[in-house]
Amino acid sequence: MYKKDSKKTAWSGEVGKWYKTLVGKEGSFYHQKIVIPGALRLLNLKKEEKLLEFGCGQGILGRQIVNEYMGLDLSPELITEAKNFDKNEKHYYWVGDVCQPVKLHKTYEKGAMILSLQNFKKPYIAIKNMSMWLKDKGELILIINHPAFRIPQHSDWIVKDGKQWRVESIYMSHEEIEIKSSPFDRKNNQKSFSYHWSISAISEMLLDNGFIISKIEEWLSPKKSEGKMARIEDKARQEFPLFMAVVAKKYE
Ligand SMILES: C[S@@+](CC[C@H](N)C(=O)[O-])C[C@H]1O[C@@H](n2cnc3c(N)ncnc32)[C@H](O)[C@@H]1O
Repeated sequence: MYKKDSKKTAWSGEVGKWYKTLVGKEGSFYHQKIVIPGALRLLNLKKEEKLLEFGCGQGILGRQIVNEYMGLDLSPELITEAKNFDKNEKHYYWVGDVCQPVKLHKTYEKGAMILSLQNFKKPYIAIKNMSMWLKDKGELILIINHPAFRIPQHSDWIVKDGKQWRVESIYMSHEEIEIKSSPFDRKNNQKSFSYHWSISAISEMLLDNGFIISKIEEWLSPKKSEGKMARIEDKARQEFPLFMAVVAKKYE
């Protein structure tokens, strides 16, 4: 359950600086190879459609589109970076907490939360806000670290009978999980939090806020191993997806 601790708005402080360096201007390997191409395909933006993104970070998605776009993020550091990188006059970036009531000036045809729902302390409120600022029949694209197979500190690999198995210590329970940027470097270590929810909990948050799930995709890693474990590692990579993408439509 949530613990009361005011320092848990870490994204508005030093964690933003760490993430900015980690991900860089072009995005991580997975952003480039899977997440952004997949998000653009599912968004399928028509010329006149406007996009609203919650937890936009340094604007990695925003910079890939030409449509009118609004990105909100808790981190002033990341929003400054997004504004520096993105000179499109139809793109707006604002510092804002999407887990509090959000006030905008217009409604949008499409919405996105890219690897951010898992970092929102109150994802229910974020989805409610998104529902409020999407037009009827508008679509929300959610991309998250796969909630069944990638639970920080609770998912691991074991090798048994010549196979690589995925093992988990939790799934159904909701957990707030502390993430350390540099666990072995106390001085520079930055803490942030990841919030685990089961797939049924996420589906309920969507349904309660007026969304119907129209599609779920599960995306695999394109990496290949080398060395004597390569065969079983590559096989396991083809079995256990890294990301889950959800397309949800706001019903009238
Ligand atoms: C893992 S990053 C993903 C950023 C970006 N979508 C990307 O793919 O690079 C999670 C983002 O969620 C933002 N975030 C966390 N809590 C937030 C909140 N309550 N309101 C708005 N943004 C928040 C963080 O500042 C961070 O930029």
